[in-house]
Amino acid sequence: MTALSSSPAAVAAGAWAHQDNAVLSWNDGFLLGLAAMDSTHREFVDCVAALQRAADADLPARLADFARHAVEHFAQEEQWMASTGFPATQCHTDEHAAVLNSVREVQALLDGGADGQVARDLARALADWFPGHADYMDAALSHWMSKRAHGGPPVVLRRRASAAPAASDFPT
Ligand SMILES: [Fe+2]
Ligand SMILES: [Fe+2]
Repeated sequence: MTALSSSPAAVAAGAWAHQDNAVLSWNDGFLLGLAAMDSTHREFVDCVAALQRAADADLPARLADFARHAVEHFAQEEQWMASTGFPATQCHTDEHAAVLNSVREVQALLDGGADGQVARDLARALADWFPGHADYMDAALSHWMSKRAHGGPPVVLRRRASAAPAASDFPT
């Protein structure tokens, strides 16, 4: 399977094959060090998780929630790119547009009476798409903005993966 065939844009075209049912959940690996962006990304994760967990009857409402979120999320980043002269704007903006197109197509399919599976497939594709987009495109924007504002990359504080301290953490 190519990267393109698992993109949200491919879902509405029916090119994406369902892989697993893991619900997207936040982890500190998603933190990029720009507070406003990190907050928006937590909301993205929550919206996708709500869509993945939704009962069939609730899928249109949860998809509408996600659409509202995505419009604001992407507009915010695109405004940051424009206002700071970010150099790699086009491919980032193109990815956002592809996601929104897929959302609109799936909304139209649901409105036309399609089975809810098309929305579940979209949710799965969004869950697959987000880590790569955040890690590559959003991280580049976060670094760019931090460098302009502070002269260096953002400082990212992540909780340790393990809750239990290791013996080596304590002084002897
Ligand atoms: Fe983002
Ligand atoms: Fe983005």
